Amino acid sequence: DIHPGRRAGEGIELGHAESLAAVVAASRLPDARDAPPLVAAPLVDGVALPGHVRDVVSPIDGAVVGRVTEADAAIVTAAMAAAAAGFAGWDATALQTRAAALLRAADLIEEDRGPLIALLQAEGGKTLDDALAELREAVDLCRYYALEARRTLSPEPLPGPTGESNVLRRRGRGVVACISPWNFPLAIFTGQVAAALVAGNAVVAKPAEQTPLVAAHAVRLLHAAGIPLTALHLLPGDGDVGALMVADARLAGVAFTGSTAVARSIAQDLAARDGPLVPLIAETGGINAMIADATALPEQLVDDVITSAFRSAGQRCSALRLLCVQEDVAEPVITMLVGAAKELAIGDPRSPATHVGPVIDADAQDRLLAWLDRAEEQGRVLWRADEDRPLPDRGTFVPPAVIALDRASDLREEVFGPVLHVVRWRADGFDDLLEDIARNGTRLTLGIHSRIGATAERAIARLGHGNVYVNRNMIGAVVGTQPFGGSGLSGTGPKAGGPDYVRRFAVEQTVTINT
Ligand code: SER
Repeated sequence: DIHPGRRAGEGIELGHAESLAAVVAASRLPDARDAPPLVAAPLVDGVALPGHVRDVVSPIDGAVVGRVTEADAAIVTAAMAAAAAGFAGWDATALQTRAAALLRAADLIEEDRGPLIALLQAEGGKTLDDALAELREAVDLCRYYALEARRTLSPEPLPGPTGESNVLRRRGRGVVACISPWNFPLAIFTGQVAAALVAGNAVVAKPAEQTPLVAAHAVRLLHAAGIPLTALHLLPGDGDVGALMVADARLAGVAFTGSTAVARSIAQDLAARDGPLVPLIAETGGINAMIADATALPEQLVDDVITSAFRSAGQRCSALRLLCVQEDVAEPVITMLVGAAKELAIGDPRSPATHVGPVIDADAQDRLLAWLDRAEEQGRVLWRADEDRPLPDRGTFVPPAVIALDRASDLREEVFGPVLHVVRWRADGFDDLLEDIARNGTRLTLGIHSRIGATAERAIARLGHGNVYVNRNMIGAVVGTQPFGGSGLSGTGPKAGGPDYVRRFAVEQTVTINT
């Protein structure tokens, strides 16, 4: 067990002959100064296009991991045109063939785990445990969407009068833009692209600026698995590249995962365009709360809080931001929580002993440190890890911290890092607490620790969050088992890794034939 709070069966199953040490060894990349650099370039019809080149640096130590060539307006136009041209052929390809390509891609991702884990660690700053779990999730998403596509996209004969055949068919929408975040640079990138492709769309994919190398590797594997070069194009770049994709008249759909603010601006841009109405699938964040009452088992609660708030350095959209603990047990729970948090090993995530690695980049680090400074000025910091020990002097590290708040509604932004906020509530104030939690408008993940079923049901009914976890941690949704995603300010649905996801990428066509 390489992480506290890890659930049995979570993460990848290693092959018989493969030791964890071998995976760790494979996950060291050569220094870019000693080896040809890894490269991510815009890929249009399989051709890498030139453009503005910059280094991709590791959040672990600032080392150069590789180089990225960023797309410009002309390259975006070329990619959209190529995708529009590639759409018809791919959409006409049999559903079974499209699904088979995803199944092959899943196998290739599994086989290529060494370099992928190396990249997830070097480029994304992931711990070994997180990198393994993410690899597993990417594989699961490819297989799940392939099987769901076979189940949900096949033509459906419908009842009708004698002499008439009615069939509901599903086909691709056209060119779909997939815009993905850095926190799951393999799983979310691959999941969006896989679902869009298997439904018959041509895809233009823009990975996050921080993590183009993982994405470029995934695209190479998808092409090797049989996705035509004309159906999947890659556009590394920043938000401007995304805006150009969204503005293009050939666009037929957008899948976006990232911040609520960017989702809103994409929706506004889509609404303001001329031409066809374009649907948006948006998955955004949440100011996620966990409610613990006096019947919670303290050791289990603390273990689940540590996992939910600090694993992945708090950089999951599912992560716990706000622990709401009943006053009667608050003192011992917070003492135990701080005691457990002091045991977290912070450092190079490539060491299997590390629990908390760096945050993604210097901007994130600055924002989080400023947040901690403000809390410090207000006398609200109950603990921060750099009180006990120095943090690594290189890399974008942020000390895990616990901050006290008066009310749940005092937390009005998603603090995307290893920072946990705590509020206390009184037994006669449970309904007020629920109202107060609801005020932030996000409805992504909710944790509940209580041995009273009715208490949990009251919270579930009032809050309506997309993923509710009772008496366990609240991260790491499993594909096909815990379909993931929220509503309100947290997204539009459908849930990733759920039965409705692939269908949303298709258009429906009812064909009635007088026989
Ligand atoms: N799917 C991820 C999780 O459940 C999102 O952050 O943790």
